[in-house]
Amino acid sequence: MKKAKVIYDKEFVIGQVDKRIYGSFLEHMGRAIYTGIYEPDHPQADEMGFRKDVLELVRKLNVPIVRYPGGNFVSGYNWEDGIGPKEKRPRRLELAWRAIETNEVGVNEFVEWAKRANTSVMMTVNLGTRGIDAARNLVEYCNFPGGTYYSDLRRQHGYEQPHNIKVWCLGNEMDGDWQIGHKTAHEYGRIARETAKVMKWVDPSIELVAAGSSGPKMPTFPEWEAIVLDHTYDLVDYVSLHVYYGNPEKDTKNFVAKSLEMEEFIKTVISTIDYVKAKKRSKKVVNISFDEWNVWYHAHLEGKDQKAEPWAQIRAIAEEDYVFEDAILVGCMLIALLKHCDRVKMACMAQLVNVIAPITTVKGGITYRQVIYYPFMHAANFGHGVALLPKVNSPKYDSKDFTDVPYIETVATYNEEKDEITVFAVNRDLEEEMQVEFKLDGFEGFEVVEHIVYESDDIYKGNTAENPDNVVPHKGGNSRIEGNVLTSILPKFSWNVIRLKKKEN
Ligand code: AHR
Repeated sequence: MKKAKVIYDKEFVIGQVDKRIYGSFLEHMGRAIYTGIYEPDHPQADEMGFRKDVLELVRKLNVPIVRYPGGNFVSGYNWEDGIGPKEKRPRRLELAWRAIETNEVGVNEFVEWAKRANTSVMMTVNLGTRGIDAARNLVEYCNFPGGTYYSDLRRQHGYEQPHNIKVWCLGNEMDGDWQIGHKTAHEYGRIARETAKVMKWVDPSIELVAAGSSGPKMPTFPEWEAIVLDHTYDLVDYVSLHVYYGNPEKDTKNFVAKSLEMEEFIKTVISTIDYVKAKKRSKKVVNISFDEWNVWYHAHLEGKDQKAEPWAQIRAIAEEDYVFEDAILVGCMLIALLKHCDRVKMACMAQLVNVIAPITTVKGGITYRQVIYYPFMHAANFGHGVALLPKVNSPKYDSKDFTDVPYIETVATYNEEKDEITVFAVNRDLEEEMQVEFKLDGFEGFEVVEHIVYESDDIYKGNTAENPDNVVPHKGGNSRIEGNVLTSILPKFSWNVIRLKKKEN
């Protein structure tokens, strides 16, 4: 059996975990909204048309913030189309995803949904076809108490109290040619600055996210970030990062190492932010919102997307049927985010329902959890407090794109309030289990509460409507603690959550 050693020390803290690192995303895309969260004629629909079965799974996931309404969708969106009496709302050609948008769900409905899901809203404004005026009016509509045109309009629409939306994204992926209203870094930097300035005049308490690169492979990365921040540094609080990974070549060893690239991406953006900070002689720290990340390639590769007819309200696109190896990479990506939680303050798994999502619905039927649901649920429920720096001594391997990939990927969180430690660990080895000795320096008198294992006899297995519990985690992990040394057996190719608690005297 292979062996690895990991040292954690109570004093070696990476940073406080901002719970918004476990955010998610819902876009007007495919079946995310219509027949996803909203299906008025479904037997489980509430009085506003929201599916209660979906709400329940979202609440269990413990998502603190959800980005809305896009994505590429937002760059052609008129937010005013989605307010007021539903029967008067326009049907629009939705160019980003080639659909018909009926606007049955808009800002107010989404805020209502978020309340029911126990979450908050991260709102994106359109900097593609629109700009300063539409953005400032939307902030006024949502956050101004009353006595002005847009705030009174909200009150007329039945919302006496302001929505008080705290986090706002300045456009989406403006570096990409696929974006409606794609811009150069200078063009985007200028409009982002002017929009940010005026939005903060309407509500100085809001936090703003500048759109960073759509991925580390973009030819403009990282120059994009440097130029955009040069324009906006004093006005924005976060820069966004997006990345999606796939495994079309069926090279699992390489695929599950891709979280290392994600870490490099984060590190480069931190360096770029800090370069601009130094250039401006600023004391202000801009942080990271990794507001789109996931595995995404199945539906396109399998030809499912191509079958969705254009210009329908409900186009089943990007409906990924995730398989177990995806859950392992998702676990590694969650660990990557936690390992940089000193600067990554928000992150959104993209997306939440049906579209590249952990939750799938059957129209008129059941809802079920994809395999990627579980690692996310574990991290969002147990990964709180501070993250501890892992000092890992693990056997390594090389793959097509990476050298020295550690078989063990791990991070731990310590929740001082509850006196609980949670160790998250992935064994990337496809063939062998691994014995790992975790030395927990500075932690005395802890006991193992549970060792949750997520493993599968077939890495291509997933959950389906017919077999929704095909691959589920179990609590039969093998972990024991003596003094402050935790010894765990991590089964081959597995995600592990080892929870420890201070013993009662
Ligand atoms: O999340 C799906 C899409 O991926 C988003 O609309 C876009 O921002 C990204 O390219």
